[in-house]
Amino acid sequence: MSTPVLAPRREGLTGVVTGAGTGIGRACLEVLVDHGARVDAWDRSDEALADLAGRKDVAARTVDITDAAAVAAAAAAAQKQWDRIDFVVNCAGAFLVGPLAEVNVESVRSLFDVNVLGTTIVTQALLPALKSSKGAVVNVASSVALKPTASNAHYAASKAAVAHLTRCWALELGPDGVRVNSVAPGPTPTAIYRTAGMSAEQESMLLRERAATIPLRRVGDPIDTARWIARFALEDDWTTGVVLPVDGGMSLG
Ligand SMILES: NC(=O)c1ccc[n+]([C@@H]2O[C@H](COP(=O)([O-])OP(=O)(O)OC[C@H]3O[C@@H](n4cnc5c(N)ncnc54)[C@H](O)[C@@H]3O)[C@@H](O)[C@H]2O)c1
Repeated sequence: MSTPVLAPRREGLTGVVTGAGTGIGRACLEVLVDHGARVDAWDRSDEALADLAGRKDVAARTVDITDAAAVAAAAAAAQKQWDRIDFVVNCAGAFLVGPLAEVNVESVRSLFDVNVLGTTIVTQALLPALKSSKGAVVNVASSVALKPTASNAHYAASKAAVAHLTRCWALELGPDGVRVNSVAPGPTPTAIYRTAGMSAEQESMLLRERAATIPLRRVGDPIDTARWIARFALEDDWTTGVVLPVDGGMSLG
């Protein structure tokens, strides 16, 4: 028999997706379920998870990823419900815009709390389960983690930390058989801009300006990123420590 060219897709896997209420996390949940996975969907917003009630192959949990006790309880509940955890997608995240002269220090602290510490707290809580399943961690960075930006330095720095954690954890966890990869999406219309306090006009101007300079001349769709996340979560291949731009070429120049 010849060797299959495509990496084998692991069947019947179970994992956690944070930030699964909306945007890229929700698109990711749908792609994973479409490919036979069972998903424990975490978000801090009850409302965003409400429509998942009664779904087969999905359990929704209201969790703030910056709250270590709440995360530990959710991790225990997820393992009790599904028996195993094969992947975690660290998608919950926050955005912040503003120049250095104006940026509010408490906002920066809370940004790093969600994007960097939250990713750490969740991965740490699920680590024993991931080691036992020889599972996968998928982190969500950003194209601005790869290419500096003048308009949202702290967000970019928080995502550069996520990208570097990905590479460091890949080294650390490789010998345990745990793969750690990340995606670095370009600008994608989701709730994140409005949640960060931008007006509809500011958001659409920013996305229009970005689209004009992206080599593929369009902003992203959540599904663009979700597809790659699902591959890293489900495919059993030899890739670890990757920070994959999914940005229409934006981070190239
Ligand atoms: N939209 C973009 O342009 C873009 C670009 C690059 C990277 N990203 C990253 O993609 C990820 C998903 O963002 P999105 O664009 O889908 O935005 P989104 O606002 O639609 O989704 C983010 C989700 O995370 C949840 N969340 C935020 N803080 C949380 C916390 N402390 N605990 C639990 N849940 C929390 C929110 O409730 C929300 O449902 C984020 O990490 C973001 O930084 C987005």
